[in-house]
Amino acid sequence: MRHDKQPSYEYIENCYGPENEQMQLSRKFADQLGLGGISVSQTEAHLMGFLVSLIKPKKVVEIGTLTGLSCQYFLQSLQQDGMVYTLEKSTEHIELSSQALKPWIDRGQAVIMAGDAREELPKLSAHGPFDAIFIDGNKAAYKDYWMWAKSNIRSGGMILIDNVFLAGAVWGDTSKQKFSDKQINTVKDMTSDVFADANLTASFVPTEEGLIVAVRK
Ligand SMILES: C[S@@+](CC[C@H](N)C(=O)[O-])C[C@H]1O[C@@H](n2cnc3c(N)ncnc32)[C@H](O)[C@@H]1O
Repeated sequence: MRHDKQPSYEYIENCYGPENEQMQLSRKFADQLGLGGISVSQTEAHLMGFLVSLIKPKKVVEIGTLTGLSCQYFLQSLQQDGMVYTLEKSTEHIELSSQALKPWIDRGQAVIMAGDAREELPKLSAHGPFDAIFIDGNKAAYKDYWMWAKSNIRSGGMILIDNVFLAGAVWGDTSKQKFSDKQINTVKDMTSDVFADANLTASFVPTEEGLIVAVRK
C-alpha cells in the first residue's frame, strides 16, 4: 500500500528517484479506479523486487494484478527468458493492466490470467515449480493461495505475502480498516502455518502493511 505521509517512506522514495513511465501509468490507472492506495508502495515494491532478484528468477507468479504495478518490479528482477504469470479477476483491472504491461505481454514475458485465482492456480501448476510467488489477492482466500504456493515453489524459491497485518486487525486494532472475521481468521491461520512449517524459513518484514517472506529449504 502507498503511504503518502510516512516520512521514512518519503525519504526512501526520494533516494530511489521517480518510478519509470510505465510504472507511473500503472499508478495513474489505479488512481483513476480510486484504488491508488492499494497498489504496493514504491518502498515495498523495490524491496520485493530486490529480494526476488537475489534468487535469479525465471518463473514468477503474482496473485492480484490490479493495474500491473508490482508486476513490473518482478518483471525487472527476471533473468533473461523469464516470465511473470499474474492473476486477476476484475475485468476492469485486466483491461488497464493489459495496457500498462503491454511491452512485456508483447514479448511473451507477462501473462495475465483472468478469473478467480483459486480456480486459475491449479491450471498453472503444470508450468511450475516456480521461483517466486507473490500473494496479494483476496484476503479471505490467503490460506488457499498459501497452500498452493507452498506446493508449487521450488527448493530455494521465495514466497512473499503482503498485508498480513490487515491494518492492525490481526492484533485486534480495527480502528483503521474493517475486515471480516473470516479475513482475519484466515490470515492469522495462514501466518501460524507459515511459521510452523519446517520446510521453510520465514520472517516478517515489519512494513506498515506487514509482509512475510518465506524461502523453501
Ligand atoms: C491489493 S490489489 C493488488 C495490488 C497489486 N499487486 C499492486 O501492488 O500493484 C488486489 C487485487 O486482487 C484482485 N483480486 C481480488 N480477489 C481476487 C480473486 N479471487 N482472484 C483474482 N484476483 C483477485 C483485485 O481485483 C485487486 O486487483
